[in-house]
Amino acid sequence: MVQRWQTQVPPGPMLDAACGLGRGIASAPGSVSRIVAVDLSLTGIRQARRLWAERGGIGWIVADVATLPLPAGYFAMICAFGFTDWRFLRRAETLLMPGGVLFYEGFSPRQRAVRPTLDLNWTATPAQLDQLFGRWRQLACAESTEPPYRTRLAAVHPTEPEESHP
Ligand SMILES: C[S@@+](CC[C@H](N)C(=O)[O-])C[C@H]1O[C@@H](n2cnc3c(N)ncnc32)[C@H](O)[C@@H]1O
Repeated sequence: MVQRWQTQVPPGPMLDAACGLGRGIASAPGSVSRIVAVDLSLTGIRQARRLWAERGGIGWIVADVATLPLPAGYFAMICAFGFTDWRFLRRAETLLMPGGVLFYEGFSPRQRAVRPTLDLNWTATPAQLDQLFGRWRQLACAESTEPPYRTRLAAVHPTEPEESHP
């Protein structure tokens, strides 16, 4: 998905939210100047650091990415892969620069067909994403119809601030 839309990403820093071993880092286009990789798991970050030791320009942070203080309008690209956290997804708008691109991938509720215990709070449908990102220019917003059932979004941050109604 990132390869498909990488030309839409303006130059600048990238946030890999809930980076795990760095699937977001692996997808960073050449226009990305610096990467901030955040994960709750210290063990995960330690492993990822070893994996990406050769690649410069990555700042590693162990924290809850939904509440970690981060500069507003700073990121040109955000990856949230395998990470459906509505607190974070609601926050993405304040973290991206105008014209920055959010790439999201997570479970669709259809995944419950193969994993019945999956908590619906950790799933997303295109309709739910559309509620949050309806104002954004959506490059892709779709749910796969085959296992593993995933929902994916690529969306460009709106350049104009939302109109305020008196
Ligand atoms: C399914 S893994 C996805 C990892 C990676 N993004 C990938 O696609 O391979 C989910 C990751 O989210 C991290 N995580 C869960 N909640 C988090 C939070 N609130 N803030 C930061 N990381 C979180 C977990 O530690 C785990 O590494």
